Amino acid sequence: MKYSIKDIGLADKGRLRIEWAGQSMPVIHIIKERFKKEQPLEGVKIAACLHVTTETACLLKTLKAGGAKVAVCASNPLSTQDDVAASLVKEDEIPVFAIKGEDRESYYAHIHSALDIRPMVTLDDGADLISTIHSERKELIRGVYGGTEETTTGVIRLRSMAKAGVLAYPIIAVNDAHTKYLFDNRYGTGQSTIDGIIRSTNRLIAGSVFVICGYGWCGRGLAMRARGMGANVVITEVDPLRALEAVMDGYRVLPLAEAVTVGDIFCTLTGDIKVIGKEHFLQMKDGAIVANSGHFNVEIDLEGLREITKETRVIRDYVEEYTLTNGKRINILAEGRLINLAAGEGHPSSVMDMSFANQALSVEYIVKNYTLLEKKVYSVPEFIDKEIATMKLNAMGVRIDSLTSEQERYLTSWEMGT
Ligand code: ADE
Repeated sequence: MKYSIKDIGLADKGRLRIEWAGQSMPVIHIIKERFKKEQPLEGVKIAACLHVTTETACLLKTLKAGGAKVAVCASNPLSTQDDVAASLVKEDEIPVFAIKGEDRESYYAHIHSALDIRPMVTLDDGADLISTIHSERKELIRGVYGGTEETTTGVIRLRSMAKAGVLAYPIIAVNDAHTKYLFDNRYGTGQSTIDGIIRSTNRLIAGSVFVICGYGWCGRGLAMRARGMGANVVITEVDPLRALEAVMDGYRVLPLAEAVTVGDIFCTLTGDIKVIGKEHFLQMKDGAIVANSGHFNVEIDLEGLREITKETRVIRDYVEEYTLTNGKRINILAEGRLINLAAGEGHPSSVMDMSFANQALSVEYIVKNYTLLEKKVYSVPEFIDKEIATMKLNAMGVRIDSLTSEQERYLTSWEMGT
């Protein structure tokens, strides 16, 4: 079996950590048990471009239990957990092409290696696999039934491909399922981003001015957690509706040009490029900490920063101190790559349980229905979303009420008024 990982000797540590994650993933466990019996993915070749974490390992094992043949590469050069990669190779015989800290060239070489499986289904987190198929591996398109996309940034890329008429096979936007974005993007990003910032800096959050660029689901999750730890949270936004929500949620909203003069810690979660640039760094306080939790490392303009920098040094793991020509020091975390996965371990397993349940059930849906699907970006079918919510509540031991038939009738009728 071909693979490319850091060190197979790390497999035992990875196996135990994967088991630990699995203990908080009851929905994936139920799906895996069903897949084992029903074999809905028998003979299906799957290429996955995901963050290689303990939670991803649980998903890949589930797909394999369902009969699939799986290959995986990283969806970010810094997010791979090398012990997990080793365990997947050694224990599960899954070809892994991912090494934490790989350079751009190996990152793309690894994508090509995963594609050599000649996938019938693709799983993406950021759409790098799909865009490689559409640009450099077009010969594979004929064999692909469909694909899934995990994250907001990837869904945006894929919707523009569909709009431009270049999307060559159907995609299910896992990100847009309620059981995904309301939990993973909000509570997952909220906790894991704080975790990554604390692990890399060990700075006190209480009493700090914490500037959050972007008040989407990820930004609001982080804002909740930063506030909960005693930070004075400032939101910057370009969307008036989101800005208004931030105001009414009780946050201070400022233009970034003003926020930079008061902030101690900055984090971008916008999905856009050059959100924090040269003009902003020059106005920041000495010692400001700047991180990104958006998918790509484009939100912080590091090129611009270098132009106004005298010298740099790595002052601790994942913290690079830039001394500017004006004498101030700016600390960039994890090279501007997504801080929660680079310096932390990504979202906790309990939330990935639902995200990856959406992945597993969407793959099954594609395999069953691909002949009926068009070259479009689809939502996760509602019945899957509801089923996952129900399974998660059951696993948590939470019971809810149901409508009486009279109530159901009332909700579907228009005749009854006052
Ligand atoms: N994205 C964010 N957190 C993650 C995790 N723990 N595993 C896989 N992908 C993730």
